[in-house]
Amino acid sequence: MIKGKIAFLTLGCKVNTYETDAMKLLFQNAGYNIVEFSECADIYVVNTCSVTNMADRKSRQMLHRAKKINPDAIVVAAGCYVQSAKEKLEEDPTIDVVIGNNCKSTIVDIVENYRKNKTSLVCVEDLFHAPKYEKLSIEDAGEHTRAFIKIQDGCNQFCSYCIIPYTRGRIRSRNLDDILAEVKVLAQNGYKEIVLTGIHLSSYGADFANKNFVSLQGKPLLEVIKALENINGIQRIRLGSLEPRIVTDTFVKELVSYKKVCPHFHLSLQSGCDTTLKRMNRQYSISEYEQGCKILRKYYEHPAITTDVIVGFPGETTEQFEITKEFLTNIAFSQMHIFKFSPRKGTKAETMPEQVPEQQKTERSNILINLDQKLQETYQNYFIGKTEAVLFEEIEEFDGEQYLLGHNERYVKIAVPVTEYTKNSINQICSVVVKKRWKNNLLIGKIG
Ligand code: F3S
Repeated sequence: MIKGKIAFLTLGCKVNTYETDAMKLLFQNAGYNIVEFSECADIYVVNTCSVTNMADRKSRQMLHRAKKINPDAIVVAAGCYVQSAKEKLEEDPTIDVVIGNNCKSTIVDIVENYRKNKTSLVCVEDLFHAPKYEKLSIEDAGEHTRAFIKIQDGCNQFCSYCIIPYTRGRIRSRNLDDILAEVKVLAQNGYKEIVLTGIHLSSYGADFANKNFVSLQGKPLLEVIKALENINGIQRIRLGSLEPRIVTDTFVKELVSYKKVCPHFHLSLQSGCDTTLKRMNRQYSISEYEQGCKILRKYYEHPAITTDVIVGFPGETTEQFEITKEFLTNIAFSQMHIFKFSPRKGTKAETMPEQVPEQQKTERSNILINLDQKLQETYQNYFIGKTEAVLFEEIEEFDGEQYLLGHNERYVKIAVPVTEYTKNSINQICSVVVKKRWKNNLLIGKIG
């Protein structure tokens, strides 16, 4: 019997997307029908984000939009914005149920309780006192070939611009048996690539060992990877964002022995200038970061090293920006995500002196976006003439022609024309001879 129609909307990061997928599964198993967010549903769940002031606003907007679509529906606010604005949400008459992080696994009971008793419900835990990792799991993910797996929650780093330690709480790690069980199901369901994610992935297992992640040198994470290597069907393992300090010789020496691990590493940088890093309360120096990149390049051929950079952090002078620019050029990233600093309410950086004017942030951001484009081209040109293993994900049309699109192990996008021979190649790994750079950051080739 169908109990009702439920719609979901996710804001924020991959961890949030994973948790929405897990909540969907719980409702499906309880007899609910999942419908699009734009449709008339009995229940709406907005899995909110609070990373910037803008994300807060968007979270509120989406909750109100749900009530507008169906004024009789139950509106559920879940996730990070709940953690940072619980009182505000409790007072908001459009919101019926408020569920914080670490309470998502009981969402079906909470909502059904509300349906019976019709009194507003709030379930928000204090995440500062190290509750356990919350058990959630998925059987499929939105994409058809690649699944993001959450194995860690929380962050103990307290970067001066970031609210996440307050919305996600202290570090908690998922036990290996649960990870393996989930990945086996995903492999049976046809997934060939998994991406290990977390809020601070490098801290995986530090809570089990009651140690700082730096002293553990990534050993618990390596144990997970070692176990996943043996799962039939999974052919590629990617790692989500890593802390530069986890990338030691010992760590990479073992990592490279696991052949399913893709040579594609996201090492969060944020600034290429030590004084700015200090103000950000990042715990590494640029020379440590550079050392990490050297180690990756020692063990892997032409690894993809990607990063995030914030421009216009309070107090960032022109000279400091130039130091960052030079550092980024020297590292020669395969891809960079550039963000303009946006002061987040409740963080240290919000009230720091010498805030950088918006126009200057835009100028600096444009300079780095241009640099990123040049570096991407240089990185990708290396593949021209080479034969690459491409996992095809989708078909797209360009200039009236159909193309199969996928990524190689180093996460470069590669396309081949759809033919009689290739049309059934979605979710297959094929050898492609790369012919040339075609459109922005897209290489074109031919099955070889
Ligand atoms: Fe947003 Fe929470 Fe992720 S604040 S970015 S949804 S950890």
